Amino acid sequence: MRSSSWYGGEDRDSYIHRAWMRRGNPDSAFDGRPQIALVNTASDLAPCNSHLTEVAQSVKNGVWEAGGVPLHLPMISIGETLVRPTSMLWRNMVAMATEELIRANPIDGVVLLGGCDKTIPALLMGAASVNLPSVVISGGPMLTGTFEGSPLGCGTDVWKRSEEMRAGLLSKAKFLSSESAMIRSKGHCNTMGTASTMSFMAEALGMTAPGITGIPAPDSRLLAASHDTGRLIVEMVKADRKPSDVMTKASFINAIITLAGIGGSTNAVVHLLAIAGRLGVDLTLDDFDKYGSHIPLLVNLQPAGTYLMEDLHRAGGLHAVLRELKDHLEPSAITVTGKPFIEPLDSAEIFDKDVIRSAKEPLQKNAGIAILHGNLAPSGAVIKPAAASAHLLTHTGPALVFDSVEDFHVRINDPDLDVDENTVLILRGCGPKGYPGMPEVANMIMPEKVLAKGVTDMVRICDGRMSGTAYGTVILHVAPEAASGGPLGLIEDGDMIILDVPNRRLDIDVPQEVLAKRKPSPAMTQAFAQPKRGWERIYVEHVMQADKGADLDLLQGSSSSDVTRESH
Ligand code: FES
Repeated sequence: MRSSSWYGGEDRDSYIHRAWMRRGNPDSAFDGRPQIALVNTASDLAPCNSHLTEVAQSVKNGVWEAGGVPLHLPMISIGETLVRPTSMLWRNMVAMATEELIRANPIDGVVLLGGCDKTIPALLMGAASVNLPSVVISGGPMLTGTFEGSPLGCGTDVWKRSEEMRAGLLSKAKFLSSESAMIRSKGHCNTMGTASTMSFMAEALGMTAPGITGIPAPDSRLLAASHDTGRLIVEMVKADRKPSDVMTKASFINAIITLAGIGGSTNAVVHLLAIAGRLGVDLTLDDFDKYGSHIPLLVNLQPAGTYLMEDLHRAGGLHAVLRELKDHLEPSAITVTGKPFIEPLDSAEIFDKDVIRSAKEPLQKNAGIAILHGNLAPSGAVIKPAAASAHLLTHTGPALVFDSVEDFHVRINDPDLDVDENTVLILRGCGPKGYPGMPEVANMIMPEKVLAKGVTDMVRICDGRMSGTAYGTVILHVAPEAASGGPLGLIEDGDMIILDVPNRRLDIDVPQEVLAKRKPSPAMTQAFAQPKRGWERIYVEHVMQADKGADLDLLQGSSSSDVTRESH
């Protein structure tokens, strides 16, 4: 065991390592058995993860039972709805802390406990770099809350109801009175938002016990499966089954196919690219289009559909979905069990055909993410056609440019704003460097004067991200971003923007020689203030663009689990 280099031996240093760790642990705890870290993102300020310590207790029981030693390792956590200026700024910090603390300690295997949006990607990135045997447990979605007899989808119904209020279809009192019903129980958001998506991505990558993902947080079966995962990680350590053995190119292809089939969040694109970068897997932005865009949407969940995560679990869960897509999946991929990823799919069943559609009768055909290129996005941009309006997928219209989120909020509802339903809204300065942290602001609210006409969607383009619970004809992750000299920073009001999703193009109808003479707008440059100290400064100096997963350049690749120097 790796941990034996701390605990084995009869010298002064091994005495110190054992003595301080005894605290009631018997001699047998140090006899060469696997030491398992439970990397736990439970936090009162990340409320979607606050129950993970209860889950960890079940994992601990399983680890002891299988002959390992469980060790609780609290990790920095991020509450998606609270953290400013954006949780994405801190994802790489959590990934870095996970990597460094696993490596620095006498650990042989790792259980990663996450849920809220950034936590599972960050944990996977860190664990992938150290490459010790690791397994993920997602804390599971919350139960469905209801208000006045109707189910409430976390996030999606907030966006929808607030737009209804702005359009005068819902009173403010009614809007506010649904607040106490929104979050019914422990767990992460119950829509197919980023938390649900990334939990399923962890399973599609092979990094969870098969079938565990999507069990609602309060369901006792989650604790039973967590106990079994405790047993599994001990077995994984003995077999030396590492993240690099599980997360191969085949696994990433399966994740892309799964992402399309479930109608998952566009945030998965940056997270999967970042995880692949830690493993040296050759995953590109265009792979999302190549392997995913022709896959049908089978899961009828908000925001693309109707139901919520509790319904998906009742209807058969992920395996029932993937059974329909089995012919597309890469058969060579394995899971943390060492067995083929596709092995359990044949025994899966659909129990509610409205929640999980068959491949023959999908909710939508060709529903995966599309990747656009053109003179507006030389390194690519992302659109989720399933969440967009079909009539806007081919559109030409004049640009209306906003140089910052603040500029947008000040002007968007100005009655004198020169805007109609053909206008293309451009929001820049929201990329990894520009904000900094690439916030979820791309799904800009509609101008009131357009909403008043009954129009509910417009083409919107941004170098930031979009909430996984949001929808609309939104082109996001434009790379390079405006603050890095991308052409998005050169657009002027009135420039014609040409969107052609069927041909995967995004262009400005301005001659290249004219664009070359333009300078980035002073207002945008002013809004982008170079951070002077701390994490923000490290982040801005090292963050890569969205098409590379917005990881830090100095965190690419594996660091290994080796530490050669002693601390005493
Ligand atoms: Fe935590 Fe949605 S806010 S999962």
